[in-house]
Amino acid sequence: MELKNNLLRQVTDENPDLIIVSGDLTTEGYSHEYDDAAEFVDELNSISEVHVVPGNHDARNVGLIHFEKQIGERKFIHIDKSGGFVIAGLDSSEPDINDGQIGYDQLAWLKSELEKVPKDMCKIVTFHHHLLPIPQTGRERNILLDSGDLLRLFIDSGVDFVLNGHKHVPNVWMIEKMVTLNSGTATTRKLRGNTYPSYNELLIDDGGIFVNLINTFTGYKREVANYAVELNENEYSICSYNYNSDNGV
Ligand SMILES: [Fe+2]
Repeated sequence: MELKNNLLRQVTDENPDLIIVSGDLTTEGYSHEYDDAAEFVDELNSISEVHVVPGNHDARNVGLIHFEKQIGERKFIHIDKSGGFVIAGLDSSEPDINDGQIGYDQLAWLKSELEKVPKDMCKIVTFHHHLLPIPQTGRERNILLDSGDLLRLFIDSGVDFVLNGHKHVPNVWMIEKMVTLNSGTATTRKLRGNTYPSYNELLIDDGGIFVNLINTFTGYKREVANYAVELNENEYSICSYNYNSDNGV
């Protein structure tokens, strides 16, 4: 409860344009857990617009029935009012297992949606399971079953940022001209190694994108990466980057 209250206070102070929750709002996908989750999302919604994608825990026990009823659609497209960026959200969960997959139908949907996005916009995609391995998380598991197909689509479609959750360990990778950014856990103590409860903040402006990691426990914020962007032949792309530690977190 303390971490949740810290988070709500901190996010209120940051006054974001948009809040993305990358899944696992429940433990077992039960109806009463979704009651609490919906209340939490309402609290976030009172701060700013919120989009949520489901996680593997949310899909347990046919929990996605409750997700759709109490939280919202399992996939979404958000277009920034100023036309600067677009975010696509996908459901990577599978019933009752921890593995994740996007699947042919969502891949086809995403491809057609990305084709509609003007080239000069920043393209962001979010889903729960991690696209690439995350260091310091123990035995590697639960990378998306179709991660290769996704990587191909993202690179070919000019996706700039991928936002994931699941592992509870924040991390940054850059592959080709695309960033994959993993979030920690903001409101639990289910932490690995020396990590602390945290969430990621993306600051997007004309010249670049800044990624901050915020400690939900202390409120301490530090910049973990920044990216300079350019319009090259009218196409938005990352032209240089800087990580502020060995692995970017
Ligand atoms: Fe998860």
